[in-house]
Amino acid sequence: MSTTVNNTSQIKAYWDQRALNAAESPKATTDDIYLRELEIKTFTQAIRGLDLADGSVVVDVGCGDGFTTCHIAAEFRQLKFIGVDYSQAMIITARKRLSNMPKLADQYLEFRVGDATSIETLFAPNSVDVVLTDRCLINLASPLAQYDAIRQIYKILRAKGHYLGIENFTSGQEELNKARTAIGLMEIPVRWHNLFFKEDEFRDTLQSLYSDINIINFSSSYYYTTRVIYSKYCQMLDIEPDYCHELHQLAVNLPPIGMFSPIKLAVLAK
Ligand SMILES: C[S@@+](CC[C@H](N)C(=O)[O-])C[C@H]1O[C@@H](n2cnc3c(N)ncnc32)[C@H](O)[C@@H]1O
Repeated sequence: MSTTVNNTSQIKAYWDQRALNAAESPKATTDDIYLRELEIKTFTQAIRGLDLADGSVVVDVGCGDGFTTCHIAAEFRQLKFIGVDYSQAMIITARKRLSNMPKLADQYLEFRVGDATSIETLFAPNSVDVVLTDRCLINLASPLAQYDAIRQIYKILRAKGHYLGIENFTSGQEELNKARTAIGLMEIPVRWHNLFFKEDEFRDTLQSLYSDINIINFSSSYYYTTRVIYSKYCQMLDIEPDYCHELHQLAVNLPPIGMFSPIKLAVLAK
């Protein structure tokens, strides 16, 4: 297993600060708001495919400002949702967001402060039907901590429960950077606070635990459009890329083709 280690307290301070800076704007956890729209759409389709019984419990680990949790919960009024994040500032924002969404008032949806690295202390074993992570585990300090968190997720899942992780993988980043450099764009580096998963290591490490692992390239067309075509267009016109550009909006609805995105959906069945 790879051995890179990041600084945990600096990373947490980064997320606390982003929550405070963004207040209740939808940019606390990402500037790429159309990417998050695609992530919400992708999680919603995946959860729908699980055909969960009414009252099933969905836990969103690393829920940030609760934007994604609230929007997914709105699609499944019969399910219970719990968002967890280690940043108190994010959780305060998430609770405010929820209180401003009266249509969710009668739904079981709560936000708690908690750490992905000790998630088994927050939930009883075999008590959760679905665990979501959306770009959360890439913030953990080392591969060891990342895989330990996924082992803990396994413990809290009920028999036949599912872990749905939208996380970043190195293979997609490499394909994206090959496409960029081929047309004279610079490589996009991995951010200082992120550790991407290696797809082979991910499967090898977790296949003895989970009964099924499926990794889906849901955002490849989105990345190719926004980080290759649109980036080149901006370079040619000598303008700054804008995350709110119409091409980002258009790319949300493209069918996923290729392997040009670091961000993938891992579906793991207990
Ligand atoms: C990229 S943001 C994504 C937030 C949210 N899932 C979304 O999609 O909008 C990463 C989030 O993970 C949280 N996070 C990072 N490490 C964590 C940990 N060890 N335990 C709980 N939350 C964590 C951060 O505070 C931040 O809110």
